[in-house]
Amino acid sequence: TSKVIIGFCPCYKYQNFWYPEHLLPITLDMQTTFKAQPSDIILATMMKSGTTWLKAIIFAVVNRHLYTNTHKNHPLLNSSPHDCFPFIHSIYEENNQNQLDSMPSPRLLAVHVPFSHLPASITESGCKVVYLCRNPKDAFVSLRYYLEKMKPVGYEMNPFEKDFDLFCQGVFPFGPFWDQMLEYWRESIKSPEKVLFLKYEDLKEDPAKNIKKFAEFLGCSFSAEELKRGVVEEIVQLCDFKTMKNVKANQEGEHGVFARFKNSAFFRKGEIGDWKDHFTPDMAERVDKLIEQKLLGSGLMF
Ligand code: A3P
Repeated sequence: TSKVIIGFCPCYKYQNFWYPEHLLPITLDMQTTFKAQPSDIILATMMKSGTTWLKAIIFAVVNRHLYTNTHKNHPLLNSSPHDCFPFIHSIYEENNQNQLDSMPSPRLLAVHVPFSHLPASITESGCKVVYLCRNPKDAFVSLRYYLEKMKPVGYEMNPFEKDFDLFCQGVFPFGPFWDQMLEYWRESIKSPEKVLFLKYEDLKEDPAKNIKKFAEFLGCSFSAEELKRGVVEEIVQLCDFKTMKNVKANQEGEHGVFARFKNSAFFRKGEIGDWKDHFTPDMAERVDKLIEQKLLGSGLMF
């Protein structure tokens, strides 16, 4: 199909979904060569929905027996959540597939691809999938800022209005937005033991409640003693926006192969409703109507 630029990033459509140019061949490779293990934990997200945050949370929950969360040697206080919990596509981009074999169990691996494009070994093995999405208006605004920050020298950004128009036509990396959300939503209803569906807004509203939910879903519920000791609250604090933003590796470290950019690009405002400062009332109405129409009858709402 033809190329469409979102922000500065060239994207191609493949089986109804939009892929950043450099990630399409990698995704196709992953589909056939990635071998999931039943104990893998897969985090699937819509881009800019809080992936970094949830990586930190799940890492902290799963590894809570190894580290004291308040301890200064905790990996999350010394490295980026993207290093503790890598994207499968980043491992492939760096041609580091051997790393997959040496990761401790449970392996924590992240993707942005829609459910229907996951490697069969993920969908067919017993591994768990946690899915995270976010109000599309906020995710769109977040994406624009992010692309601005990761834009390599020599590239130009589209005007905001042009990207907005494309977004309404379904052009969003690993989108259309509604199609990606609906695939995971339906799967979470069909197989609740396999897919846990979550919204950024719900995580913001009550992180502690959701952390307990993850632990239960992942088969590592908190004991009464841990709850009494305040382990959940410690994880909330450890993964809080301010804590994470101030970690040196998150300020100064780098991410990406196609374009290298500062990890700080993953930490901007971390709030709900920032779209209000960027959308005209007409734009907001257009998205709202579109989303309402696309999600109609599904039970999913924003
Ligand atoms: P904003 O651009 O709206 O601030 P992703 O990790 O999927 O790329 O998403 C990035 C978005 O999540 C950014 O949103 C970022 O600020 C926000 N974010 C990152 N860490 C967070 C945290 N610990 N708590 C809440 N939001 C966080």
